[in-house]
Amino acid sequence: MRARHAPFRIGIAERDRWLELMTAAMDEAALPEPAGDFLKALFAQIADFMRNQAAPAAGGFRLNPLPGKPQGS
Ligand code: HEM
Repeated sequence: MRARHAPFRIGIAERDRWLELMTAAMDEAALPEPAGDFLKALFAQIADFMRNQAAPAAGGFRLNPLPGKPQGS
């Protein structure tokens, strides 16, 4: 699944926007608890896993890659 997303730049902003829209869709679907909270937490984790741009350092500069990830991946 990460490979399928690799051609697209997915950074913090993209992850957060995706999550925002997915959360809105799930709220609209009014899933019963605890399924709703469980899925939201799971989506948040996977959406971050789909990210293929390093987190920007404070101030917006990219200084270091994420721990354990090769630079630029
Ligand atoms: C829980 C997280 C996510 C899941 C489960 C997910 C799932 C999927 C699936 C199933 C596809 C279709 C793959 C295919 O056709 O082979 C897809 C495509 C795509 N996803 Fe995600 N995705 C996730 C997060 C994200 C995020 C954070 C972004 C960033 C905005 C994103 C952007 C895209 C794009 C651009 C495509 C390709 C659309 C196209 O080819 O027309 N996804 N995703």
